[in-house]
Amino acid sequence: MLGNVFGLDLGTYEIRIFDKKKDRIWREKDAIAMKNRRYVYAVGNEAYGMFEKAPDDIRVIFPMKNGVIAHFDDMQYLLGALLESERRFGRGDEYLVAVPTDVTEVEKKAFYDLVCHSEARAKSVRIVERGLADALGFGIDVITEKGIFVANFGGGTTELSVLSEGGMVLNRLLKIGGEDFDSAIAALVRRNQDFLIGRLTAERLRREFGVFDQSTDSAITVSGRDLITGVPAQMKVSISLVRAAMKELLEECVRAIRAMIDRTPPNVRSGIREKGICLTGGMANLRGLSTYLRESTGLPVMTMEEPELCAVRGLRQILLDRAYYDRLTYSMMDEDYRWLR
Ligand SMILES: Nc1ncnc2c1ncn2[C@@H]1O[C@H](COP(=O)(O)OP(=O)(O)OP(=O)(O)O)[C@@H](O)[C@H]1O
Ligand SMILES: [Mg+2]
Repeated sequence: MLGNVFGLDLGTYEIRIFDKKKDRIWREKDAIAMKNRRYVYAVGNEAYGMFEKAPDDIRVIFPMKNGVIAHFDDMQYLLGALLESERRFGRGDEYLVAVPTDVTEVEKKAFYDLVCHSEARAKSVRIVERGLADALGFGIDVITEKGIFVANFGGGTTELSVLSEGGMVLNRLLKIGGEDFDSAIAALVRRNQDFLIGRLTAERLRREFGVFDQSTDSAITVSGRDLITGVPAQMKVSISLVRAAMKELLEECVRAIRAMIDRTPPNVRSGIREKGICLTGGMANLRGLSTYLRESTGLPVMTMEEPELCAVRGLRQILLDRAYYDRLTYSMMDEDYRWLR
């Protein structure tokens, strides 16, 4: 039997896999539920569903942190379990993995090793810079287009890329993602109202309120723990508090976008001024984010349906037309990486 081909976008929040044989994209949360610290109880979406809900002996862990693999063995197990659940590994399978650019070579190599040294026994593993895949999935022909700016607002990172004619001109990975916004919200609620809320509750508040427009006097009642009485309770959290918690992080992202545009060579910059920013990643769904970015950068901002799938859609495109797009991919076994092996 001929081997299959997979495209992998391993995010902090979600793992997305493109299966070429079935021409299907599937997505699972990047989480593992452990029972008694020893047994794997559940993986993926099922594990995430237990987060902050399951009894004490079940702990949900997240193998990725800020866009890089923090727990290699857990991540390898998770990926193996997800691929296994669909079908048995074939020995001759090929993989294309999207990796962040602005990380150390060792961190990048970990993505490669994850797949290369897994039980999958891949026939080949190739790498593509995630910013390129993202732009392709956004519907841009990255090989011919001059001057593209992609801002991927994800769960654990914000990745900014300037691309031109098939290459990465500038790239920066900020360690700011949805979960950092949520922690900031939870911390401010705790400090201002002596009220403890979980990460999921903070996420719900962020999604409901968004970052721009909407009335400024709305509030949502959420469950948590009153830190003065120590008992579970319900409390109102106002939109202004949630917005205040997110303000500093948003401003940091905008500063980074501006700085990157300033550093962009003029001939590339003119293309960006015309087309604006391509906004991708799950946080691009956040109400008001594109308006906020447009107002604060003065550039047009484009987004699309299911922006969190842009990178994996890009992988799909590369794998469906390899003759044309293979020049965007490379292998980490190449001479350049000999010193790492
Ligand atoms: N409809 C929505 N409204 C607001 N936020 C959303 C929405 N959908 C997803 N998100 C947020 O998007 C984030 C996940 O984005 P994404 O799936 O792009 O992350 P990732 O690719 O796994 O992580 P990273 O690329 O940072 O490693 C989460 O924080 C989630 O709360
Ligand atoms: Mg991502």
